[in-house]
Amino acid sequence: MNRRFSPGTALRGTLVPPADKSLSHRAALLGAMSATPVHVSNFLDAADTRSSLAAARALGARVEQRAGGLLISGPGLRGARPGVAIDVGNAGTLLRLLPGWLAGQPEGGRWSLDGDASIRRRPVDRVARPLREMGAELEAREGRFTPLEISARSLRGIEYVLPVASAQIKSCLLLAGLLADGTTTVVEPEPSRDHTERLLARAGAGISRDGDRITIGQREDLRLETIDVPGDPSSAAFLAAAAVLVPGSRLTITGMAANWTRVGFFHILERMGAGLTGTLEQRDSASPDSEPLCELELAHGPVAGTRVTAEEVPLAIDELPLVALLGCFAEGETLVEGAQELRVKESDRIATVVDGLRGLGADIEATADGFAVRGTGGLRGGRMEAHGDHRLALLGAVAGLASREGVEVVGMEAAGVSYPGFAADLAALIR
Ligand code: S3P
Repeated sequence: MNRRFSPGTALRGTLVPPADKSLSHRAALLGAMSATPVHVSNFLDAADTRSSLAAARALGARVEQRAGGLLISGPGLRGARPGVAIDVGNAGTLLRLLPGWLAGQPEGGRWSLDGDASIRRRPVDRVARPLREMGAELEAREGRFTPLEISARSLRGIEYVLPVASAQIKSCLLLAGLLADGTTTVVEPEPSRDHTERLLARAGAGISRDGDRITIGQREDLRLETIDVPGDPSSAAFLAAAAVLVPGSRLTITGMAANWTRVGFFHILERMGAGLTGTLEQRDSASPDSEPLCELELAHGPVAGTRVTAEEVPLAIDELPLVALLGCFAEGETLVEGAQELRVKESDRIATVVDGLRGLGADIEATADGFAVRGTGGLRGGRMEAHGDHRLALLGAVAGLASREGVEVVGMEAAGVSYPGFAADLAALIR
């Protein structure tokens, strides 16, 4: 589906962003792993998280619609139904987390995981390798792609230094650690989103953190009662960027997750000079196991170029395409470094962002580990291909609103992976 986004109308009003995708994936899986039924409020209804719910169901969970949310019951930590083929769709998070739960199930269980064309290009050796060190049996196509076959084995705890800062790999190993003999320690090169740790702590999993080391031991069971999913900062970021770039805009964002491991983009926005008020969670928050909310206000204004360094990257990984877009409008140069992980997202986001924005008139270059943008005071517009990548489709939409001539996004339906209500939310703000 092609869709045109035209300039000229300011965004005004209040946005309640869609529910957080990362937390919704985790709610589906931890809901299924819990010994007690879990009530999930504000579960994201989007293509990616429907894949997670379908996987939970296929593995034996009962999922019921209740007033105010979903009730997810069973099958419990060691009760995943064996012999099931799981279609993860487009969901990289589901693909990386699920093996952590399945690899250590009671012996005899076998599962296969596969997904769409984009998933078939995304590496699973990043989780298969450490899981094998724990004793798991996994077989991947060409050693690193789906279909991934998993056979249950008894696992032993290991200490694993993550070669890249990835919340998906970290989460996978922490889930496997619940089923492994002894203790499992994951060492992070840089902090990444910590939703799994917060949920596991609330579930009584005896998880602890000491600097960059996270340790978990074998458990009999997990016990969670409620998970309230906050608004998604990664989705909110698109309309936040639009408000900063489109003259006359003033936007309030409410109900958004304030978790410091997720709001790096909003700190980058502030540093670029965007007028932003509100309170984001600080690193040493008083309530480390909850998921706090925030309200922010943003308004149109000039932005200046900035340098995003490797340690900031995991805290803003999915929003880096927007940093490139903002760079086109900024005074001076914008550099993103240490972001080679972008190459293995739903598309190669270094290549697709650079080609996409260049096609709209941007002065942007790919580097080995990110991109360099010279601000030219704006963007002409044109056509942009989403490449089946939801964040690219949304980037094209925001580029269109901020451009001089508008942008036709080719493949806008990809936005349904994380933000199916984008067009409706935008329409409500530009009335
Ligand atoms: C996610 C982690 C990030 C992010 C992805 C969601 C998660 O990936 O890009 O969209 O929910 O854990 P990595 O952990 O591989 O960096």
